[in-house]
Amino acid sequence: MSERTLVLIKPDAVRRGLVGEILARYERKGLTIVAMDQRTIDPTLSDAHYAEHVEKPFYPALREFVTGGPLVALVLDGDQAIDVVRAMNGATDGRKAAPGTIRGDLSLSNSENLVHASDSPEAAKRELDLWFPGL
Ligand code: CMP
Repeated sequence: MSERTLVLIKPDAVRRGLVGEILARYERKGLTIVAMDQRTIDPTLSDAHYAEHVEKPFYPALREFVTGGPLVALVLDGDQAIDVVRAMNGATDGRKAAPGTIRGDLSLSNSENLVHASDSPEAAKRELDLWFPGL
């Protein structure tokens, strides 16, 4: 069943010039880019997006990181897009992510891990409404 997911190409990927490489992987897979926007976010959006993490010890550094430079937010559409994109991204920790995944091939970090994607249909709805209201 076709579904939509929210992806963030995070500031480390933009800084490293990896936006094209990452987009190409999603496109080659057959996913459709429904919307795409480069923006620098403020702490309020970071707190809302990462609501489940705001109390965690790593969150202050994560907020600094995601608000510290431009990121690219996109909406991808495709069959089982939520699970497909999560599999393509790989495990959170780039040092442990499997080769062949975006993080496994391109990241050596647990925090600066290049991409974010919605992890469930409920998260996708919440995140799509937050980042692209009215889409
Ligand atoms: P993401 O998929 O965007 O979801 C939460 C983010 O928090 C995660 O990717 C990482 O960027 C970051 N993160 C998760 N766990 C840790 C951790 N233990 N230390 C630092 N950052 C983390």
